[in-house]
Amino acid sequence: MTWQQFKITTLSKMQETESLTSTSEYRLPPAEERADYIRRNFDAIARNYDRFNDVVTFGFHRLWKRSAIRLTALPGNSGRQVLDLCCGSGDLTLLFADRLAADSKVTALDFSPGMLQILQHRLNKKKYTCAVELREGDAAHLTDCPNDFYDAVTIGFGLRNVQDRAGCLRECLRVLKPGRRLVILDVGRVNWTIPRVVHEFYFNHIVPRIGEWLHGERNEMYAYLPASARIYPGQQELARELETAGFTDVRYTNRFLGASVLHVAQKPV
Ligand SMILES: C[S@@+](CC[C@H](N)C(=O)[O-])C[C@H]1O[C@@H](n2cnc3c(N)ncnc32)[C@H](O)[C@@H]1O
Repeated sequence: MTWQQFKITTLSKMQETESLTSTSEYRLPPAEERADYIRRNFDAIARNYDRFNDVVTFGFHRLWKRSAIRLTALPGNSGRQVLDLCCGSGDLTLLFADRLAADSKVTALDFSPGMLQILQHRLNKKKYTCAVELREGDAAHLTDCPNDFYDAVTIGFGLRNVQDRAGCLRECLRVLKPGRRLVILDVGRVNWTIPRVVHEFYFNHIVPRIGEWLHGERNEMYAYLPASARIYPGQQELARELETAGFTDVRYTNRFLGASVLHVAQKPV
């Protein structure tokens, strides 16, 4: 067998397995039930979430999150207001809090009380100089957030879960100060054939097993993760959605050949 034949046979076998399991083992709940399902299940896995992230990304999510903070390009750390949407256990919130001065504030918003509890627990362990407010709420309806108020908005591995993505992006635009940035960190599409198939196999088959192993029992949320990635837009499509929402200077930067991606978008001045 030639290398080319070996490559085609192996890839098609892996793709076959992938499409079989993704349709027969797990189905996303209907769109109208999804928000409730996601909230309930994030509550259920909250205590294992950080360990899970460390294991499945080999710790790299920490570097990507540092890049996300850098890409907000905050003009100084004094007198700043930042908003971390879908904050979860608060990695981005705490990175902001580490950098901001006493007259600044981080608002961390999530709709899962379980995840917010973990963040509160992490906040209790260390003294931060700036104010940190935890808010339970929906990232697509920022009702308590004023217009033109925040110096930066971040969403880490969260936008993929928000049902009304267009609504969420419009809200981000509304609450940002003109000229300031939204930074989105999430999964992306790997474009190179062999790395893509390897990544899909890892993401669809290995990651859910690791999740269940760490959790100690079966939990649908670990199968939800790859399923949600399949319906999330690719890098260019999301860039177009950001432009449609009204952002300018939209760009993205891939990590791990696009397995992870950081989008940066600016509110027009
Ligand atoms: C995968 S976690 C990401 C947590 C954290 N930002 C990080 O990067 O590690 C996704 C979080 O988004 C939250 N979430 C999903 N949809 C949401 C929504 N519509 N409004 C607010 N929070 C939401 C979930 O509760 C969960 O805590």
